[in-house]
Amino acid sequence: MAMVCLSDFEDYAKKYLPKIAWDFFAAGADDCSTRDENILAYKRIRFRPRMLRDVSRMDIRTKLLGTEISFPVGIAPTGFHQLAWPDGEKSTARAAKAMNTCYIASTYSTCTLEEISAAAPGGLCWFQLYIHRNRAVSQQLVQQAEALGFQGLVLTADLPYTGKRRDDVRNGFRLPPHMKLKNLEGAFEVCKMSLLDPSVTWNDIYWLRSLTHLPIIIKGILTKEDAELAVRHGVQGIIVSNHGGRQLDGGPATIDALVEVVEAVQDRVEVYLDGGIRKGSDVLKALALGAKCVFIGRPALWGLAYKGEEGLQDILRILQDEFRLSMALAGCASVSEIGRHLVQFSKL
Ligand code: FNR
Repeated sequence: MAMVCLSDFEDYAKKYLPKIAWDFFAAGADDCSTRDENILAYKRIRFRPRMLRDVSRMDIRTKLLGTEISFPVGIAPTGFHQLAWPDGEKSTARAAKAMNTCYIASTYSTCTLEEISAAAPGGLCWFQLYIHRNRAVSQQLVQQAEALGFQGLVLTADLPYTGKRRDDVRNGFRLPPHMKLKNLEGAFEVCKMSLLDPSVTWNDIYWLRSLTHLPIIIKGILTKEDAELAVRHGVQGIIVSNHGGRQLDGGPATIDALVEVVEAVQDRVEVYLDGGIRKGSDVLKALALGAKCVFIGRPALWGLAYKGEEGLQDILRILQDEFRLSMALAGCASVSEIGRHLVQFSKL
């Protein structure tokens, strides 16, 4: 079967993954309206393409906090990659490095941070943190990530408790016994999301700041009020995200929330987005509305499920080709030419 677009990989993953793993990857909270809205919202945005603008030479590179990446798509943090492919996060790190983009490794990885960094030395990796009740565990992870060469710390803010994902409840989802949350092994009994600390507040950004020199990026922001607080608390980046619709059902699509966050931030920090990116033209729309870069969650897992590192590279290459083509057809030869003029958007 020719793999032409990301939904071909989705179909493959659905067909070949064990049902319990597929259901976990696909899950949204409650009746999945926010998960689905993330995708539908792109379809409501129309381009205002410009013509005759010499697109014979295309430059799709960009920078993330000063580091160049090959195109503005990175890999969002998702847990449990060994459910998709035996080498798990090591394959993810290798694919991201091969494609010269950023991989955000999750606290809930099934490989250790050492294994991930050794798999792709010199690759651009950020570490995503969930703050646990046992702060010493989080402190140790942050400092280990910095020592291993991870270049950013992503604090996920939208998971004081895990959203209600019906299929996971029905399936009694848990990791198979041979897989472990390797970064938390020994620290305490793992796989109990209730060990996450629901008392985290903005003040904890200062605590994180005292632990590390890494830039702090906050993930899960959806409003101008929280964007302002994030800037005031000294973060270096914001990821507009609703956790792929897995947390509060009924919140906005991320592409709809992006505009108010970008307006509030006024270029003081970089703003990124994840959720619902399935085509190169979605990337172009997000950049037109002010995102510096976007990240993919589930599509990366579909790529891993297809052929590990190679499959994830296929996903990234398809997105890269589609993004380049969309840019050219819209009349942009470089990322710096992308702006709001490119889209009609009812919320503008
Ligand atoms: C996630 N996400 C997530 N986020 C995070 O900060 N830490 C994590 O460990 C996870 N784990 C996770 C597992 C799975 C299976 C999914 C689908 C998602 C959320 C993720 O980073 C991202 O916000 C969404 O996946 C983006 O939406 P799309 O690209 O999946 O539509």
